[in-house]
Amino acid sequence: MAKKKAKPHTLTPRHPVDLPAWQSLAAHHRQDIRPKTLADLFARDRKRAANYTLSTGDLTLDYSKNLLNAATRKLLLKLAREAKVSAAIDAMFSGDVINTTENRPALHVALRAKMSDRVAHERRDIADVWRVLNQLEQFVNAIHDGSLRGHTGARFTDIVNIGIGGSDLGNSMIAKALRPYWRAGMRYHPVSNIDGTQLADLQKELDPKTTLIVICSKTFTTLETMTNANAARAWIIEALGRDALKKHFVAASTNHQAMDAFGINPDYRFGFWDWVGGRYSLWSAVGLSLALVIGTENFQALLNGARRMDLHFRQTPLAGNMPVLMALIAIWNNNFLGAESQAILPYDNRLERFPAFLQQLQMESNGKSVRRDGRPVKCKTGMVIWGEAGSNAQHSFYQLLHQGTRLIPADFILPVQSSGATQAQQDLAIANCLAQSEALMDGYSKEQAIADLRAAGMSAAEAKELAPHKVHAGNQPSNTILLPRLTPETLGQLIALYEHKVFVEGHIWGINSFDQWGVELGKKLATGLSDAVTDSARYEGKNSSTRALLERIESLRG
Ligand code: F6P
Repeated sequence: MAKKKAKPHTLTPRHPVDLPAWQSLAAHHRQDIRPKTLADLFARDRKRAANYTLSTGDLTLDYSKNLLNAATRKLLLKLAREAKVSAAIDAMFSGDVINTTENRPALHVALRAKMSDRVAHERRDIADVWRVLNQLEQFVNAIHDGSLRGHTGARFTDIVNIGIGGSDLGNSMIAKALRPYWRAGMRYHPVSNIDGTQLADLQKELDPKTTLIVICSKTFTTLETMTNANAARAWIIEALGRDALKKHFVAASTNHQAMDAFGINPDYRFGFWDWVGGRYSLWSAVGLSLALVIGTENFQALLNGARRMDLHFRQTPLAGNMPVLMALIAIWNNNFLGAESQAILPYDNRLERFPAFLQQLQMESNGKSVRRDGRPVKCKTGMVIWGEAGSNAQHSFYQLLHQGTRLIPADFILPVQSSGATQAQQDLAIANCLAQSEALMDGYSKEQAIADLRAAGMSAAEAKELAPHKVHAGNQPSNTILLPRLTPETLGQLIALYEHKVFVEGHIWGINSFDQWGVELGKKLATGLSDAVTDSARYEGKNSSTRALLERIESLRG
């Protein structure tokens, strides 16, 4: 299909630091906010929680525990207006070329849109989205009803997703999050890493006769994915013969030639488009392995959830727009309060992989130091993202959040209803989550510590000596995102919330959130090094450290 040349993106705002609102925010921080604590802000505003809480769809965002007040919010919104955020949102939904360095739009929103939403409706290839979705649904249903089976006639029970980065993290995170939605008799297994151990372990456990391998790769050239795919291919050929390949391998990619060359059965190929970024691709055919495990209705519910957030993002004025507010708060914490990193703390173990998913989404998107126009940025951009499911996290790194020396804003993500265990246990998770955000905010003073130690029977001298070790400075900012329950629909909303938040942040910084040139250099060097690892004749030209390590590796290889 002829590629429609989209309008170039002309929305690069001025350097944010040169915008009047940025300068006002800097002054406002120095004069009004720096001298205050979160406790002060709560004391001054009895309705603070209500004033700084926003709901849309199934999500509620309480951002009251941030070091900001009404004046801050007003200035942040002014920054968004000066940076022309609304025009940027329109540009994304219209299909403008906002991924300027790769000369393409970023249209993951089209993957979950209805035709009536008119997302980039002028593009001819948009209608293809529904064709592929339909193809995907028919394929998944045929696997489930047994009309498509393996080479020996056995039904499939195990889905192996071979892919990495955006071709793995979304599927794997969601598969884990939606474990209660897995179809009876179906199991999901991720294979992503280059070292091959994931597949080696699975080969001991799985029966090739009932295993369907889904190769997900936008480019179909990624070293990790192709290495694992070739290993899986050899495994199936050895177990079932070459003819089995056409029934045991299915692929999602934009590279039709490479799918051909690999020998993927033409009916088992699912295409997508270059305007779907890798880390935004789970909504496309890349979600096939997920749909195979959770079923097409649940996959559609995930898309519907994301669409709900898309509609909110597209239609809601900036002041009530959840992704916009989250982006502005993140910019405030990063660029004005000086936070270097942000913790993602979901209180449902099923969201265990959510921090890893957000690491790619946020750090690959906004870890940039050059603006769209090629000039260096003048402020810090993407923060370091990390995290773990609570309450595991409490017993690991919360000590540093409570008593360390760094400002670390956190996002607490809290499903209210249990996603599978007893509600009594989820209620304990809720209590822990709220207790932690409260402790991070309020801290624990030396006076309180002395009083408590004295009440516990300690002498005045002993209490005075121990008290400093018990002090929690507090004042750590946090958001709390509530959802009624972890379902395909609510998870779709949550993921889209962060996708749009990342886009708004990147837009205000003037960077392109949709490319990832930084990943290329390491890939290139690895290709150059792979011969040297097994052949000492190729050490020439390597630096002394790499050379010495190669020599030591050779001696350890045994
Ligand atoms: O990590 C870099 C990256 O290009 C990601 O953006 C992408 O999700 C991943 O590699 C995998 O690429 P592909 O889907 O082409 O195999």
